Amino acid sequence: MLRKLGLLRIFQQRNFGKYEIVKPARISPILDVPENIDKPEYYQTCEPSPALGNPEIKNETQIQHMKASCRLASSILKDLNEFVQVGITTDDIDKYVHEKCIKHRAYPSPLYYRGFPKSICTSVNNVVCHGIPDNRKLINGDIINIDITVYFEGHHGDCSKTYLIGDVDEQGKELISLTEECLKKGISVCGPGVPFVEIGYSIEELATVHRYNVFPGVLGHGIGSYFHGAPDIYHTANTYPGTMESGMTFTIEPALTRGEQMIEVLEDGWTAVTADGARSAQAEHTILINDDGFVILTDQH
Ligand code: MF3
Ligand code: CO
Ligand code: CO
Repeated sequence: MLRKLGLLRIFQQRNFGKYEIVKPARISPILDVPENIDKPEYYQTCEPSPALGNPEIKNETQIQHMKASCRLASSILKDLNEFVQVGITTDDIDKYVHEKCIKHRAYPSPLYYRGFPKSICTSVNNVVCHGIPDNRKLINGDIINIDITVYFEGHHGDCSKTYLIGDVDEQGKELISLTEECLKKGISVCGPGVPFVEIGYSIEELATVHRYNVFPGVLGHGIGSYFHGAPDIYHTANTYPGTMESGMTFTIEPALTRGEQMIEVLEDGWTAVTADGARSAQAEHTILINDDGFVILTDQH
């Protein structure tokens, strides 16, 4: 019995596809942000201010600011289509995004957030999320999630996408496209009066039909003048209370795997990897609930 299980595990491992297991590499010095750029509160202390207990209902002015920051985050993600390729390092991507933010007078939200040392998160292959940009070069066959959040007009806009580097095997391609489908499905159920739990049920259902797992520990979140706040958005079956209301803004950001749901956080305190080495893909949008349903605020990419 035991032996059989052991063999099965090896078989599954092989069956995850053709890719390199990624280990953290060297991190370059922290980049500067010019004085004239408006910074979030945690820039000084590394600690965000305590978040509101309940989901915030935003007024028209706040919504306009959210639209501006989300548009910017998403347009930078789109620009990366031209830039991301074999041979560049995740640190090169970080520098590119950092400079774009500054050019637009925006602050790259991850920088100093709870002490995070870089301006974006880059999560390659078996890294689920919160990968720290370093000097590892992208190689043919990698998949990489790039997660961009900008602080602009006093508000954060958050989005991410998983890119294919060169020739990715069929399993990698399927993982990415199903992840995008799951994000779309989770968004499609949203609207005023809809319980938050609907998002998780709908996403997990679609993933399960295709025999993929959704990481229960990776959550979406309310967003505004704060990076992370109420509500928590589960991407799996859950009992989180409450319903969506017009004026709420939050992210949906499911991460999927063909492997198991166990995640390990590495010694750097950030990099979350799959325990079994399987690949993970993620996709993220920030959305607004309005009287008619929802608006995808990060829809430029
Ligand atoms: N952008 C990530 C999210 O989607 C959060 C990154 S926090 C950081 O919620 F500190 F790692 F940047
Ligand atoms: Co994000
Ligand atoms: Co997010």
